[in-house]
Amino acid sequence: MIDIHTHILPEMDDGSSNVEESIKMLGMLSEQGVDTIVATPHFYIDKAEPAEFLQRRNECFKKLSDGICKIDNLPKIALGAEVQFYSDLSSFDRIEEFCIGGTNYILIEMPFFPWNGYTYQTLNHLSMSRRIIPVIAHLERYLDFINEKEVLLKLKEAGALVQINADFIIDRTTRRKALSLIKQDCVSFLGSDCHNITSRPPNMGEAADIIRKKLGDRGFEALRYREEKLKDSLVVY
Ligand SMILES: [Fe+2]
Repeated sequence: MIDIHTHILPEMDDGSSNVEESIKMLGMLSEQGVDTIVATPHFYIDKAEPAEFLQRRNECFKKLSDGICKIDNLPKIALGAEVQFYSDLSSFDRIEEFCIGGTNYILIEMPFFPWNGYTYQTLNHLSMSRRIIPVIAHLERYLDFINEKEVLLKLKEAGALVQINADFIIDRTTRRKALSLIKQDCVSFLGSDCHNITSRPPNMGEAADIIRKKLGDRGFEALRYREEKLKDSLVVY
């Protein structure tokens, strides 16, 4: 299983605070059946220069790599980013470097207010002209202010895929909705969006158990298909 959304790099953003915590998070993910993770630190175009972010990401990854070099059975790590949507995103000249581990998939945090035609146009431009596949991070966070059916259709038309957080499945108040989206093949990826080992820990295993119990193997069909497609060209360390 792959965890496509993690804040596991030590001292990079509001995620793991040191190498020890990152190692514990990796260990937890491994026990949960995760063999590959994508490190997706937040990237805000108005807060950091792209070069500065990429350099910091490399430095934090190096710290983690040094810390785990003698530990067996940890998940493989791919580098990515959780890129905050902005109006000129589709013309971002260094966008490939922010994609997930050498693939053409990019994890995007969308605006937390209603999306308009221009929002979809940007996603559409990314996928059609730039050949970059937008993956909408934690779709559930936007459900309060979007018309779900309409948005899912527009995202599909724009060539965008959907990621949901494990929490969305684990939380009993939202579980039915999460499983229904999975059942309708509206979800391409799961992510833990883990930040630490306490308040926002890795929780992929619990979510996977619920899917298995409630939907059986059928629940993993779309997820596995996307996972395999992504892994075909994913660069991992
Ligand atoms: Fe995140």
